Amino acid sequence: MSLQLTFIGTPVTARKEFSGDSVFVCTPKRPGRLSTPRAAAITDRSVREPLPHLRVNEKGGIWVPQRARPRRNRKNEGLRSMVRENIVLPANFIYPLFIHTEDYNQPIGAMPGCERHTLDSMLKEVGEAHALGVNSVVLFPKIPDSLKSNTADECYNPDGLIPRAISSIKAKYPNVSVWTDVALDPYSDQGHDGVVSSDNLGDGGKGRILNDETVEQLCRQALCQARAGADVVSPSDMMDGRIGAIRDTLDSHGFTDVSIVSYCAKYASAFYGPFREALDSAPREDSNAPANKKTYQMDPANSREALIEAALDVAEGADMLMVKPGMPFLDIIFRLKQQTSVPIAAYHVSGEYAMMKAAAQNGWLDERTSVLEALLCFKRAGADAILTYYAKQAAQWIQDS
Ligand code: PBG
Repeated sequence: MSLQLTFIGTPVTARKEFSGDSVFVCTPKRPGRLSTPRAAAITDRSVREPLPHLRVNEKGGIWVPQRARPRRNRKNEGLRSMVRENIVLPANFIYPLFIHTEDYNQPIGAMPGCERHTLDSMLKEVGEAHALGVNSVVLFPKIPDSLKSNTADECYNPDGLIPRAISSIKAKYPNVSVWTDVALDPYSDQGHDGVVSSDNLGDGGKGRILNDETVEQLCRQALCQARAGADVVSPSDMMDGRIGAIRDTLDSHGFTDVSIVSYCAKYASAFYGPFREALDSAPREDSNAPANKKTYQMDPANSREALIEAALDVAEGADMLMVKPGMPFLDIIFRLKQQTSVPIAAYHVSGEYAMMKAAAQNGWLDERTSVLEALLCFKRAGADAILTYYAKQAAQWIQDS
């Protein structure tokens, strides 16, 4: 049975389906123009088909006999805000900042709105973010090639860029919590988070990333950062055993109050591309260094493996666990939240930022609502803290709302 109905602007054909529970299916004559009969304005009731399984209430109106109606708890903003399960606040954010030794700021092509800062500009940015309620920053250095080496010894130079940046922030903003990245890649002439062996015994006939030799360097790096005043050191290298080794190093030197946030489930992801441009830290192609970081960062196909990493890191003394990247890995955040009781941080990484910026700049996404939604979804998945390049902007949006 077929019946011609006139909906506003678009003729559609309603086909009565008598089987099962379905009422009718509306098929637009011009596909894509009208997918639902939402705009229906049927004034002539005589053309209406009877729908015997729907009822009529005492006022003569249509009645779908449905007692539980979840929409009632969504009917106005007062109720919606009463029953809202998650909220994202500027205090949840950690703001990543790129710094360099030049005397000008350098924009980062794939991260519009982000730049490599001079130390003065970094301080200004920290102050502005702090005024908006962002209490934590994490620093990433762009190191000149002349200071890079395979063993990355510049990473524990007490007069290096990072120690100077830390102490200048702590001097001016003692209440801002300064987080550091513990990994060799910004200082490595191989573009790796660890020391590369000179043999060709590794994956694909390339050099190996030497675990224990790297951990020794990471301990020196973390100690140097703690001495400069870092509040939180966050190893992002994925070497085995580094959390315990760094904890012991810090403790035995009197830095029992310095926290360790472990990049616990860090995946070998394509979403770090813009970050590696920002630091010029991508694996080098002209050496025997492996072309990627797959022998230490995790396979994006795996989730149970993240539970092993989490159990080890907690046992070794991590104060917080991080999942990275963020948006494609919300299930990992959720799983870690179930398994452990330490807080979870999510890293909304450079590639995720680049995607949202590009879509916003093209007018394809509303930047403010889509970014705030993405950040809220990290909380819903189980993240307590969020590292995001949007931290200052999002804090401003939250304050304005
Ligand atoms: C390196 C490090 C990376 C990021 C943070 N620390 C890159 C990598 O592992 O290659 C990526 C962050 C981002 O993409 O925003 N230890």
